[in-house]
Amino acid sequence: MTRETVDLEWTDDVATVTIDRPDRLNALNRETLSDLEDVLEETDEARAVVVTGAGDDAFVAGADIGYMQDLSTPEAQEYAELGHRVFDAITTHDAPVIAAVNGYAFGGGCELALASDLRIASENAVLGQTEIDLGIVPGWGGTQRLPRIASDSTARRMVFLGERLGAEEALEEGVVDDVVSQDELDEVVAEMAAEVAAKPTAAMTAAKEALNQAHETSQEAGLAFERRLWSGLFGTHDQREGMAAFVEDREPEFE
Ligand code: COA
Repeated sequence: MTRETVDLEWTDDVATVTIDRPDRLNALNRETLSDLEDVLEETDEARAVVVTGAGDDAFVAGADIGYMQDLSTPEAQEYAELGHRVFDAITTHDAPVIAAVNGYAFGGGCELALASDLRIASENAVLGQTEIDLGIVPGWGGTQRLPRIASDSTARRMVFLGERLGAEEALEEGVVDDVVSQDELDEVVAEMAAEVAAKPTAAMTAAKEALNQAHETSQEAGLAFERRLWSGLFGTHDQREGMAAFVEDREPEFE
């Protein structure tokens, strides 16, 4: 079900989630975050999820500054926890989540992209952890995810200076995975999502879990985790089918 500020559309098994507050450049206030949380729950069965922003100018221009302006510490903590819960739902979603970064992605918008598995930006995209100029720091995962995705020095520059990276610079710094023209973005992301959705589901979920684990644990524990996931895939329909198709020199038919 579509909520007031977040739309959900389906194309086969691909769910596209659109933050829809264009008059505020899709800034995330409490309502939008709650809508996003609800909508994400409805994408449980998706085999790929796309997250994007409504309109031509912004992916998400951040947390809602007007809303945050007078928050007390307990209120800010509650807002931070809500943001973390929603972004964790993206990180731990069974299916890969692709951010189609179609314009400004500042503060919480940049963090929403960073919580996603893949980031495809349009040429007009600008990404930044700009919180320092508001007297705060990234609060929805930016300080933790950015150095893991890009480099520690990129993260320090972006977080200390509030540096805003154009799409090409973000690509060079490893903050986004690809840059395409504004006209092509939806199509490129839709094709990628369809390709991901056509892959074996259990293996895809295992791949995401294993890669996530690489950032959470020692290499030894991560390798043990990988072995368990790997072995657990044997006997699934898609493992039997994928290997039989190879041996029989035909295309596999995954579940
Ligand atoms: N929170 C709340 N409202 C926001 C917002 C945010 N993060 N970002 C933009 N808006 C609102 C603006 O206040 C403006 O509202 P108005 O029409 O009532 O004046 C509307 O969205 C359009 O933004 P505007 O600033 O007029 O557009 P612009 O094209 O001149 O500039 C930005 C775009 C993104 C450069 C600029 O809006 C900006 O710097 N936003 C804040 C980014 C930020 O620091 N985000 C981190 C928050 S933690």
